[in-house]
Amino acid sequence: MTAVLSTHGLIARYGDFQALYGVDIDLAEGEAVALIGANGAGKSTFLRAVMGLLRVAPDMVRLKGQPIGGMATDRMVQMGISIVPEGRRLFTGMSVEDNLRVAVDQAQRMGRKGGWSLARLQALFPILKDKARTPVESLSGGQQQMVAIGRALLCQPSVLLCDEISLGLAPKVIREIYAALPEIRAQGTAVMLVEQDVGLAQSASDRLYCMLEGRVTLSGRSAEVTRDQIGAAYFGGSHAVV
Ligand SMILES: Nc1ncnc2c1ncn2[C@@H]1O[C@H](COP(=O)(O)OP(=O)(O)OP(=O)(O)O)[C@@H](O)[C@H]1O
Ligand SMILES: [Mg+2]
Repeated sequence: MTAVLSTHGLIARYGDFQALYGVDIDLAEGEAVALIGANGAGKSTFLRAVMGLLRVAPDMVRLKGQPIGGMATDRMVQMGISIVPEGRRLFTGMSVEDNLRVAVDQAQRMGRKGGWSLARLQALFPILKDKARTPVESLSGGQQQMVAIGRALLCQPSVLLCDEISLGLAPKVIREIYAALPEIRAQGTAVMLVEQDVGLAQSASDRLYCMLEGRVTLSGRSAEVTRDQIGAAYFGGSHAVV
């Protein structure tokens, strides 16, 4: 199996502080992989390092086997990696539709083609049609998250990186968002879900990785890893996760 995205001994630093210590993670086409771990484990740093937002060596990140580590984020998007960042980062003062059109234009400019259109996205998340003219800052957190996911999808990614898309949202909205995953994956898009909610991460993914202090402490098939294994990997001891 050729991984669509893989990291190889990925190391990342913030100044003198080393945040990742040789992380090996891979995603196959259409696969959903969860990345879990406590606060400060290095999950967002991993995504930033993959996206070229931190300095990494070319060989440490590969897209279909080609070294891409440290390339500019624009190039990453052009090559098919999109991120739904922590905190969503929507364009405030702009409507839902205008936020989405930015991504449509970006994909067009970059020559990226794929199956996502504004209409299809509005079918996936009907609220994006109902609130098309509404400024994004007037939306609920869950609705904003749908815009953020939509914006990433309109870049026609082969890899979608999601940083804690369930954070702070009501269970009903989380279910609505996660219900979109099968359709996204059916497109062949590999999805990485960084999640604090272990149960959600496990049920929504094919495989999972757990990180602790910048290292992968557990990897396996989500349906097979036990609560005890996750607990030990999460805290570095013999705690169980409930
Ligand atoms: N901009 C930064 N400058 C310095 N250190 C940072 C910076 N961002 C993160 N760190 C440190 O890097 C480590 C990993 O942080 P990171 O944000 O990747 O964790 P995380 O797993 O995403 O946690 P959370 O669940 O809280 O989002 C932490 O020790 C954090 O304090
Ligand atoms: Mg984080």
